[in-house]
Amino acid sequence: MCGIVGYVGKPPVVQTLLDCLGRLEYRGYDSAGIAVVNDKGIEIRKRVGKIKELVASIKQKPLDGERLGISHSRWATHGEPTEVNAHPHLDCRGELALVHNGIVENYAELKARLLGQGHRFRSQTDTEVIAHLVEEHAKRLPLAEAFRSALKELRGSYALCLIAKRDPTHLYGARAGSPLIVGLGKGEAFLASDVPAVLARTRRVIYLNEQEVVELSTSGVKLTTLNGAPITRKPSTVSWDLSAAQKEGYDHFMLKEIVEQPSAVEQTLCTRLDAAKGQIAFDRRTRTFLSRLTSQEKFVIIACGTAYHAGLVGEYMLEELAHVPVDVDLASEFRYRAPMLDRDTTVIAITQSGETADTLAGVRLAKEQGAKVLAICNVMGSSIPREADAVIYTHAGPEIAVASTKAYTSQLTVLYLLTLSLAKRRGLVTSARLRELLTTLGRLPKLIERALEVEPAIKRIARRYARARDFYYLGRRYNFPSALEGALKLKEICPRIHAEGYAAGEMKHGPISLIRKGWPVVFLATDSAVYEKVVSNIEEVRARKGECLIIASEGDRAIRRHADALITVPKTEELFSPILAAIPLQLLAYHIARLNGCDIDQPPNLAKSVTVE
Ligand code: F6R
Repeated sequence: MCGIVGYVGKPPVVQTLLDCLGRLEYRGYDSAGIAVVNDKGIEIRKRVGKIKELVASIKQKPLDGERLGISHSRWATHGEPTEVNAHPHLDCRGELALVHNGIVENYAELKARLLGQGHRFRSQTDTEVIAHLVEEHAKRLPLAEAFRSALKELRGSYALCLIAKRDPTHLYGARAGSPLIVGLGKGEAFLASDVPAVLARTRRVIYLNEQEVVELSTSGVKLTTLNGAPITRKPSTVSWDLSAAQKEGYDHFMLKEIVEQPSAVEQTLCTRLDAAKGQIAFDRRTRTFLSRLTSQEKFVIIACGTAYHAGLVGEYMLEELAHVPVDVDLASEFRYRAPMLDRDTTVIAITQSGETADTLAGVRLAKEQGAKVLAICNVMGSSIPREADAVIYTHAGPEIAVASTKAYTSQLTVLYLLTLSLAKRRGLVTSARLRELLTTLGRLPKLIERALEVEPAIKRIARRYARARDFYYLGRRYNFPSALEGALKLKEICPRIHAEGYAAGEMKHGPISLIRKGWPVVFLATDSAVYEKVVSNIEEVRARKGECLIIASEGDRAIRRHADALITVPKTEELFSPILAAIPLQLLAYHIARLNGCDIDQPPNLAKSVTVE
């Protein structure tokens, strides 16, 4: 959601800004723009559509920057995606420019005041208000102070980057509720929404905290609070390199990330699991956190989208193996309920990005009510882990495609580790059984590798069903969430298709009425306690002439006669089956979307990280 890059350094500034912005394309956007400071003052260029449109316009009519500039890819919130509404936005005199990610909630009231003070607005955006507000304060104050004073008037969320004609050596930034990092290179510095933007130039980054302001020049960084009090923070070194954030020969990031799952899950497990000794080792903070859980502890899992589906799988395993009562809530609903939380409640926030606005709000609500918060997160240093009492990182590496794949299977892996570790602590599993389960857990990367071998079969099936416009996905127990996830994958990357996931047992309560000849229904029918019940559901669909695409366990011969198309995955314990079932579901969505000519990595209207409500 909105990509921001700011740069102070050396020429070619425009090229640097465009290269870095291009690495944030995955965030989803509908227009892009750039502003630089040069001998003419501030020069600006914006285009609706992809960054390549902006690049083409600059090729046609070059734009030069000396050492300072900002760029932005906008995902429209206030005002349509037009050139006027695209960022950067200017003050009245075109002497300062800024880019913004977030929402200024009190923009209408600020705008009314600024109009009264004689400011002239060009766009319908909330962002433009900030430019005029800084201009107003800068009439009386030095720029850095004017920036901070303006920030204090804003309600809502922001990551901001500001440049000014009068200060051509400094780049200003601030964050509150939207991500912003500082990248420190040799004789150059960056501000960006996310690490991949700067990785080609530096791995030294500073993660800004809430309500922090930063002033960057080629000679240093000045970090302060909103009141101007200095803050000292050492840069961290990003552990992954640029190759992790590049396609490396794959046609799409989504395919690359699907294929990366064996190593992503390996990374999630590697320092934590010792199957031979029957041990799971979390870091010290997480161990302390887990040791504080009471015997009456209940869990509330909050998350959105795919992470919510991981949470639903978590509910089955935590209740069954660790005997903890679990509720799973969509974060966007949780934050507006009156949840009954207390000191015996642990809220588990699952999130790839660590920045999802609803999940973050849920975390804050939980803390206010005295609950403990454990985050399961992929992005180091992001907001949710910083606000949680403890965090288990998934270590899946950067996930660039909008559709979440390897983050999901890594989230499931963390939930397996957590469940089995609690089951052990509570004495609910014998050492022999624990060792057996941990051995299978340790073999998951290999099993996922084998599951990936279904790709040629999936391609054939995708060709057969690519023209269908409605799909159902059905599963039960551990694979009910798999059905939801399979349908979400398909509908998000192939917007021409309507796909719904249901608990198979719910079919008779309504959805079955829609089934007609040729309607594809993807069934999760791997080996499980409810296998026979799923087979009955398959028969109900066949009786109505629906087409059954069945995902079953290897070696299940009996299922063949029920299947119009059959995909098998390695046979495993029911508990682990969702992680293997995820592979054909992801591949099926990918290949159907591909055959439909969809924009797979950046589906229309979707953003990778939903930092606004
Ligand atoms: C689906 C997808 C989204 C995210 C959701 C939560 O493929 O990517 O549904 O899962 O927006 O995002 P995070 O996990 O970053 O909180």
